[in-house]
Amino acid sequence: MPAWLNALAALKYDEQGRIVGDSYADVASITECQAQQVETWSTGEGHFMSHSEGYTRRRLLTLAAGASAVFTFGPVGAQSAPPTGTGGKTMQTRVIPSSNESLPIVGLGTYRGFDMAPSDPAYKNLAVVLNALFEKGGKVIDSSPMYGRAEQTTGELLSIHEPRSPAFLATKVWTRGREEGIAQMEQSFSLLQTDRIDLMQIHNLLDWQIHLPTLRHWKEAGRIRYIGITHYTASAYEEVEAVLKAEPLDFLQINYALDDRGVEKRILPLCRDRGVAVICNRPFGGGGLIDRLQGKPLPGWAAQVGVKSWPQLALKFLLSHSAVTCVIPGTGNPRYMAENAGAGFGPMLTDAQRQQLIALVS
Ligand SMILES: NC(=O)c1ccc[n+]([C@@H]2O[C@H](COP(=O)([O-])OP(=O)(O)OC[C@H]3O[C@@H](n4cnc5c(N)ncnc54)[C@H](OP(=O)(O)O)[C@@H]3O)[C@@H](O)[C@H]2O)c1
Repeated sequence: MPAWLNALAALKYDEQGRIVGDSYADVASITECQAQQVETWSTGEGHFMSHSEGYTRRRLLTLAAGASAVFTFGPVGAQSAPPTGTGGKTMQTRVIPSSNESLPIVGLGTYRGFDMAPSDPAYKNLAVVLNALFEKGGKVIDSSPMYGRAEQTTGELLSIHEPRSPAFLATKVWTRGREEGIAQMEQSFSLLQTDRIDLMQIHNLLDWQIHLPTLRHWKEAGRIRYIGITHYTASAYEEVEAVLKAEPLDFLQINYALDDRGVEKRILPLCRDRGVAVICNRPFGGGGLIDRLQGKPLPGWAAQVGVKSWPQLALKFLLSHSAVTCVIPGTGNPRYMAENAGAGFGPMLTDAQRQQLIALVS
């Protein structure tokens, strides 16, 4: 039996059919598998059959275990188990103004958390992070060539999700020069193991005049679905504003947090006027905001808006702004991902509640 099939067979599941404990380490070894051709695979019912055709790794994994089982439905034979975790409800969505497509409002940032090799014992957690996102109805995953191994890790873990995961893949171009940009974006397709990237963004506006024509061309050709720009600091807002005014764009990704609200003044109203979807990066200020808030009592009305923790409240503060489309808290921690996704449910905050939170961090 090939090693990857052994690894699949060794996976352990909880009673709801999700992979548990250390067996996630085996997912890492499965994703390392380079098999292009096998003679044996599991039918999924305990039998093994011979075949000599070439199969892609993804197809093999599907045949071997129903790769949907790997993330969503549990072990072979348990495909009838109901999906779990949302209590029958799903995450709220907002419309992307340029297309009217609905997007779930809480996504995932891969900076730091997904910069990890399969040999790292914590790699196994990342599959669970994705599972937590999808289970709650989320789908936006944001990456960049700047984030070390994050694109590759994301591609590996999504490749064993069959049927194709619901991921809305956002990544970036982060280099100078037309040819260099093309080469880097081609590599992103390859690392993410996809032939279509949902959102391609120009990272920190680096060489944006050069990359934009390529992005427009690729959008027309159907290789990417949306075009965006990103930044993370107030010193760039002037340039961000100028580009928003000069160029038709689908998305802006920008820093916005309860204690970092500079975009409220001009950038968010401009996006609303121009019909540009807004993704909030650094919603926890890189983590510092949560450190400051933990230990303080939650406002008495938190339960009324379906919030159980400061991270959820900090995200809901952002989502309660009408110009915001989606937040992408970064994490490699499954518990954090599930908690963050919870901000996508229940009522949004009133203006008075938002003001109360602002006063708390001022
Ligand atoms: N210029 C750009 O385009 C740009 C710049 C910055 C960020 N981004 C994007 O935006 C995403 C988010 O920004 P970020 O990752 O820099 O910062 P962030 O989301 O503000 O904060 C991430 C930090 O918060 C922690 N965290 C996450 N969920 C938590 C929870 N429920 N409870 C307690 N702590 C929690 C994480 O811890 P763990 O690491 O332990 O999980 C991590 O240390 C990035 O991942 C990236 O995709 C883009």
